[in-house]
Amino acid sequence: MAQLTVEGLGTFEIPAKKRLVLALTDEAAVDQMHACGGNARCTTCRVEFVAGEPSQMTQAEKDILAARGLAATAGLRLSCQIQCDHDMTLRATSRLSTTPNRVDAGKRPGDQIAPPAVWVAK
Ligand code: FES
Repeated sequence: MAQLTVEGLGTFEIPAKKRLVLALTDEAAVDQMHACGGNARCTTCRVEFVAGEPSQMTQAEKDILAARGLAATAGLRLSCQIQCDHDMTLRATSRLSTTPNRVDAGKRPGDQIAPPAVWVAK
């Protein structure tokens, strides 16, 4: 189990290695955006880490953050590309309720990181 703290919402116990995007949705009940369905293509699943930012990331996350000019934004990470394997504190900044012109948060991401994770240094 890992503890996930979402600023303004509380602290939640998360099953080991659950995808962060699903932990936000299921345990924390955040209306977290995930427009591409958790496939590292949209960046709408982004969150802002306050503590516990992982030191590794998937190659897919690294590539799309660079392509969108977001790689240098401190603490900004993609929740669909992170597993809950340690305690984390973050801000949920990309939510359906604060995103204009969206009718839903996106198709529910699968249980496994997609595309298959290739872990690299952040
Ligand atoms: S990049 Fe689209 S849901 Fe994560």
